[in-house]
Amino acid sequence: MTDVTKTATVGVVGAGGIAHPHLQAWRELGFRALVYSTDGQAPAVASRHGARACDTLQELIDGCDIVDVCTPTFVHESIVLAAAAAGRHVICEKPLSVNHASAARMIAACRVADVQIYPGQVVRYFPAYAAARAAVDSGRIGRPAVLRLTRRGATPVQQWFSDPVLSGGLLVDQMIHDFDFARWVAGEVASVYAKLVGGNGSPLIGLAVLTHTSGALSHLVGGWGRPDERFRTSFSLAGDGGLIRHSSTDRPALTFDGFGPVAGEGALLPDTGAHSPYQSELAEFAAAFAGGRTPRVTAQDSLAALDIALAATQSIRTGRPVAPAEMTR
Ligand SMILES: NC(=O)c1ccc[n+]([C@@H]2O[C@H](COP(=O)([O-])OP(=O)(O)OC[C@H]3O[C@@H](n4cnc5c(N)ncnc54)[C@H](O)[C@@H]3O)[C@@H](O)[C@H]2O)c1
Repeated sequence: MTDVTKTATVGVVGAGGIAHPHLQAWRELGFRALVYSTDGQAPAVASRHGARACDTLQELIDGCDIVDVCTPTFVHESIVLAAAAAGRHVICEKPLSVNHASAARMIAACRVADVQIYPGQVVRYFPAYAAARAAVDSGRIGRPAVLRLTRRGATPVQQWFSDPVLSGGLLVDQMIHDFDFARWVAGEVASVYAKLVGGNGSPLIGLAVLTHTSGALSHLVGGWGRPDERFRTSFSLAGDGGLIRHSSTDRPALTFDGFGPVAGEGALLPDTGAHSPYQSELAEFAAAFAGGRTPRVTAQDSLAALDIALAATQSIRTGRPVAPAEMTR
C-alpha cells in the first residue's frame, strides 16, 4: 500500500468538467498531480493546473500514490479496479457506478487490496449543508420530521449524461447528492416513491419521497433544464424544535427559525468566502490516506445513496414504492 504524505502525487483520471476543480484543489493543497484522459485534453488541462500529463493509464498509476477517478460513471469500475490492484488509494467521483453490484465490487477490491476508497459526495462539504447537518446533530431542530430538497440546473452538455445506461440518469447522477444528504440528516431510508416528468426537449424533473426508518419524510425535486437554466439548490429541514432553511439564491443562504418561546432566529452561517468544497473534501480524504480520521463520507455511504437512487429509478418503472435494501444487483 502507498505511503501517503503531504508530498504525495495524485493521478487524476479524466480531463473534463469535474477534473478542473479537483486539480485546482490538489494544487492549492500542495500536492503534485498527474493527468490522463482519452480525449487528448490531458496536456492542456495539466498545463493549466501545473500538473503533468501522462500518455497511458498505467503510466499515471505507476507514478502516483492516490488515483482520483474523474471519468464518466460507466468507466469508474475498470479504473478503480486497476488502481486497487496496484495498491493505490482511490478517490472516485459520485455516483460510484450505475448499479449496486459494480459499486460493491469496487469497494470489495479496495478492501482486498488494503487501500482506502472515498467517494466524491461533495455536497457534504458545501458550507450550508455541512452547517445544517451540524445544527441538526446538535439538536437545534429537535427530531427531524420533514425534509424538502431541490436541485435544478441546465442539462449537462456532455451526451453521455443523458444516457441512463452510461450515467444512471437524473436520479442516479444528480439527485444522488440530495439522497445522500437526506440520509445523512434523517437516517436510513426504508422506501422510495418517485416520478419522472418532462424530457424530450422540455426540462426533465425527478420527484421523490423517501420514508426514513425513523418515520421522517424527505421530499426531493431534481431537474435538468434548458441550457440557460441557472444552477440553484434549496432545502428546508423541519423538526419538532425548529426549521432550517437554505436557498443558494438568498442572502443569508442558511437561516434558523426556532419554534420554542425563546428560540433564536436568523442567519446560521456567515456569508464569508469559504474555500472550495472540493478542497475541503479532498483535504479530508488525503488526511485519511495519511493515517488521519475517517472522512465524513465513506464509500458505503455513497453505495447507500446509490441504492436510494436505484430504488427511485425502479419506483418510476413500476409505479410502486421500492425499498433501497432490494437493490442488490
Ligand atoms: N461531485 C460533483 O459535483 C460532480 C459534478 C460533475 C460531475 N461529476 C461526476 O464526475 C464524473 C465525470 O464527470 P465530468 O462532468 O467531468 O465528465 P466529462 O465528460 O466532462 O469528462 C470526462 C473525462 O474523462 C475522460 N475519459 C473518458 N473515458 C476515459 C477512460 N477510459 N480513461 C481515461 N479518461 C477517460 C474523458 O476524455 C474526459 O476528459 C462523473 O461520474 C460525474 O457524475 C461529479
